[in-house]
Amino acid sequence: MQITTTEFHFRKPNKEDGASAWELVKHTGNLDLNSSYSYLMWCEMFSDTSIVVVRKDTQKVVGFISGFIHPEKPDTLFIWQVAVHESARGNGLATKMLLQLLDRSACNDVEFVEATVSPSNTPSKRLFLGLARKFETNWKISDYFTAEDFPESGHEDELLFKIGPFEK
Ligand SMILES: CC(C)(COP(=O)(O)OP(=O)(O)OC[C@H]1O[C@@H](n2cnc3c(N)ncnc32)[C@H](O)[C@@H]1OP(=O)(O)O)[C@@H](O)C(=O)NCCC(=O)NCCS
Repeated sequence: MQITTTEFHFRKPNKEDGASAWELVKHTGNLDLNSSYSYLMWCEMFSDTSIVVVRKDTQKVVGFISGFIHPEKPDTLFIWQVAVHESARGNGLATKMLLQLLDRSACNDVEFVEATVSPSNTPSKRLFLGLARKFETNWKISDYFTAEDFPESGHEDELLFKIGPFEK
C-alpha cells in the first residue's frame, strides 16, 4: 500500500535521535555504519543541516540525512548519509528530506549539493539526479574516492555527484 508523506513528520534531529539514526543506518545493510557516538554527536551538533523523518503512528525514525556545509565551500551542502527504512521507501521521503534541508535558513547560501555515490547504488543515483531534474539544474559526476583509498577490501568506488546551481 502506498503511504503518503502526510503520515510522516520531518524535523531537525536532536541527540535523542542519535540512537535511532544509528539503528536505521545499521538496518539498511549497505551503508557504512559509523560508531553510535558519531550519530549522537551528529544529531546534536549538525542538526541544522541534518533531518529525521518520524512515522506519526509509531513515532519511529524511518528517515535520516546527515549533511553539513562544506568547510571550504560555504555554498555547498554535502550530504553524507541518506537512509530510509525499507518499509517506507519509494514514497518520496528521501527527496522530501533533501528539499526540506535546502529550504532551511542554514542553507540560505547553498547553491550546490554534493554527495558521493557508489556506482551500483541505483536508488541513490536516481535520488540525486532527480533533484537536478526537479530544479532543472546541472549535474556533474566525477571520480572521488576509489576502492584503493579504503583500508578494507571490497569497498566500492565513491563517485562525487555535484548538483546545481540552485535558484531558490
Ligand atoms: C536511497 C534511498 C535513501 C531512497 O529513499 P526513498 O525515500 O525510497 O527515495 P525517493 O522515494 O525519494 O526516490 C528518489 C528517486 O529514486 C528512485 N528510486 C527509489 N528507489 C528505487 C529503487 N529501488 N530502484 C530504482 N529507483 C529507485 C525513485 O523513483 C526516485 O527517482 P525519480 O525522482 O526519478 O522518480 C533508500 O533506497 C535507502 O535508504 N537505501 C539504502 C541506503 C542507501 O543506499 N542510501 C543512499 C546512499 S547515502
